[in-house]
Amino acid sequence: MAYTFNKSKEMFKRATKVIPQGIYGHFNPATTIPGSYPYFISHAKGPRFWDIDGNEYIDYVCAYGPMLLGYAHDKVDEAFAKQAKKGTSTTPPSTLLVDLAEKMVDTIDCADWAMFAKNGADTTSWAMVIARGYKKRNKIVLAEGGYHGTQPWAGSNHVGITPTDRKDILMVPWGDAAAFEKIVAENKDQIAGAMFTPYHHPVFAHSKLPDPGFWSKMRKICDENDIVLIIDDVRVGWRLDIKGSAHAFGFKPDLACYCKAIANGYPISAIVGNEKMRLSASKVFHTGSYWNNSPEMAAAMACIDEMKAVDAAGICNARGTQLKNGLIQIATSHGLQFEVSGPPVMPFIKFANEDNFKRSQLFCKECSLNGVYFLWHHNMFLSAAHTEEDIKKTLDVADAAFKVVKQQFGG
Ligand SMILES: Cc1ncc(COP(=O)(O)O)c(C=O)c1O
Repeated sequence: MAYTFNKSKEMFKRATKVIPQGIYGHFNPATTIPGSYPYFISHAKGPRFWDIDGNEYIDYVCAYGPMLLGYAHDKVDEAFAKQAKKGTSTTPPSTLLVDLAEKMVDTIDCADWAMFAKNGADTTSWAMVIARGYKKRNKIVLAEGGYHGTQPWAGSNHVGITPTDRKDILMVPWGDAAAFEKIVAENKDQIAGAMFTPYHHPVFAHSKLPDPGFWSKMRKICDENDIVLIIDDVRVGWRLDIKGSAHAFGFKPDLACYCKAIANGYPISAIVGNEKMRLSASKVFHTGSYWNNSPEMAAAMACIDEMKAVDAAGICNARGTQLKNGLIQIATSHGLQFEVSGPPVMPFIKFANEDNFKRSQLFCKECSLNGVYFLWHHNMFLSAAHTEEDIKKTLDVADAAFKVVKQQFGG
């Protein structure tokens, strides 16, 4: 029987009275199809969650990334709970601060040091400041359509942001080394840093992998011009490669930002850097009320150990490949032109013969109403908790959803 969402709708009504937008930010239901997605969950385990109306979903959003090992992972949760009994925010930090920094340095290819915060935006802002402190320059290059958080300089929002907030931001298309080289020449000795995601994962558009030679060219331009190369690995980090996404693409950044998936859902983020950046990083004053909390650090230690033990990136890749191949094959069998872009661990889905996403929205709606949580506007995420059986069930649901798309659109 198709799902209904009476309790979700009722709760959303209550929410709108006391919370602007009801549910804010990227969890806001504005991008979902009205009446076909749940708004509130009751609980989650492994690759599944259950909404407050009792409907069950195989989830391909993983809380927009953090759930790399799956929801409510026993080992990570136990590590968090055990440490929380010893205190959460404490005056001097616990020794886990050092243990975790050592683990980050041992794990991530480009890291000679690590520092911790709470959100991805903390670390992307921090990285900019460290880069500016390095050569006392102001300008930062970002990619068009990239996302580094909601802070005013990142420009993902237009309300309440002034031109001054973005005065020193220069933009280039992602993946265009020639455009980067040109902007560097035009702003000689003024650019402090360049911040990019390891591959392009914009919203409402296909993901784009780097061309061969792109990253070595970018590294060379940055080296020749003393520009700090910053990789925002907040979203991709550890799904592609436990040594960091830059390692997967064969280069070393000067700074890299991590957040989602460090502690499988517990709030902690990290910035790592090389020796060159150590001095500037140590001069910058940056801190936060909860940045030294030890339970999140214990969770991160357990999460990194488990990601390595089970080869989480390998499992995500295998399941993502099974999903991608299955979706394309089934869509083709229905005479539909369906595309899946990005690495299989973070697929973006789209019908090739449309720009208005109407087919994608119908497809995702049919999947949601039958227990598969897909997104049409944003890349999705695989986890190490998704099993082959889960993917098979998902493909059965997708088969029926493609049929509905075919009936309604004809191709
Ligand atoms: C690539 C990237 N950078 C930065 C951020 C900001 O992270 P946060 O929302 O934790 O501040 C995100 C969040 O989705 C992201 O995907």
